[in-house]
Amino acid sequence: MKGRIGFEATESFASKLDSDDPLARFRESFYVPGRVIYMDGNSLGLLCRDSESSVLRVLDEWKTLGVEGWLKSERPWFYFAEQLGAMCATLVGAGPEEVILSGTTTINIHQLVNTFYHPRGDRKKIVADELDFPSDIYALKSILKIRGANPSKDLVLAPSANDRFLDENKIVELMDEEVALVFLPSVLYRSGQLLDIQYLTEEAHRRDITIGFDCCHSVGSVPHYFDRWGVDFALWCSYKYMNGGPGSTAFLYVNKKHFDREPALAGWFGYVKDKQFDMSLHFEHSRSAGGWQMSSPAILSSAPVEGSLKVILDAGIEAVREKSLRMTSYLMYLVDEILSKKPYEFSIGTPREDARRGGHVAIEHAEGLRISEALRSRRVVPDFRPPNIVRIAPIPLYNTYHEIWQVVQHLKDIVDKKEYERFSKKRKAIS
Ligand SMILES: Cc1ncc(COP(=O)(O)O)c(C=O)c1O
Repeated sequence: MKGRIGFEATESFASKLDSDDPLARFRESFYVPGRVIYMDGNSLGLLCRDSESSVLRVLDEWKTLGVEGWLKSERPWFYFAEQLGAMCATLVGAGPEEVILSGTTTINIHQLVNTFYHPRGDRKKIVADELDFPSDIYALKSILKIRGANPSKDLVLAPSANDRFLDENKIVELMDEEVALVFLPSVLYRSGQLLDIQYLTEEAHRRDITIGFDCCHSVGSVPHYFDRWGVDFALWCSYKYMNGGPGSTAFLYVNKKHFDREPALAGWFGYVKDKQFDMSLHFEHSRSAGGWQMSSPAILSSAPVEGSLKVILDAGIEAVREKSLRMTSYLMYLVDEILSKKPYEFSIGTPREDARRGGHVAIEHAEGLRISEALRSRRVVPDFRPPNIVRIAPIPLYNTYHEIWQVVQHLKDIVDKKEYERFSKKRKAIS
């Protein structure tokens, strides 16, 4: 019998989805760890062959060129961050000069929030949300402290009614005349809710409030149109859906209308490019996203991003999104069909509407932690987020529909056999 969105719960239907998949060939481009069903690409994406080649090329350039590599390598290291920024710009609907590969997510939050937070008169509050990733909140509080504000009064966290989702209208209600800046995630790291960036941006600007986004959980999975939406600034990591490797260099976006603003945290790599080596003591920032760089770019942590960007651009972000939505719908369908009733009692903690969902599905269960461990022992890699969420991220470039089907069978079997009872209720350092 056909499911309500045209899916069927049979194994042969999963195989049919794979054989009809226009992106199936990209799986060959990746190293999928042996005999593992890898569903954690929203935490650390896998290595692709192009990234490996980029790293090996850069190592060879270092070996054979030494310091000359800054200008004489295939993609001169001196311009590498700008070039990769321009490549990534097409994924986020930005001009080539509005994106730069630089820093890390948390460093870029400090850089950009400090730049764009301009308290004036009664306007000195920052609006974020109570479901935010902790590092963002730590950074916002420390910025407020350094700037002489009071985090317990001046940081306003939009509440969630159910610990899963945020209501954009409620966030807008908080945008009053005391707010100087709004800083929000694009996709919530636990539930996978995708916020309406365009709507929030329009409403913030209507009230003369600057707005920026942490897009760690959306770039590489969801298309963005920063210029069209008028977003002021954004930042994102490159190690999740961007497959840049553990701790790879992050990205930042500054809307060109702000290029004249002085970067809050100045450093010599933010200097006007062709005059940087004049070594003037008077800082003159590049009128581009590059102006917000600080230090010498980490070339070895940037190289893999080059290769992975090539693959994503080759596949096309719209096609990636289309498959991602199909995969997450299929996973939710299988959970509903097979795992929602007694004795399984799994539920979905991710929005059902395509427009409100990022690239992963939060599967909730009272025994989520021990079920995640049982999955790992069966060579399925999910991750766990407290209090009860098994996050499953089927990645369009390297996962298959058949793997999704298998994950659901594993979950069923783990509960049928009460296999999770063999595992400790204590969390490991990283889950
Ligand atoms: C939404 C979000 N923001 C910030 C961070 C922190 O990133 P980093 O360790 O690169 O500073 C993470 C890390 O996973 C994240 O998911």
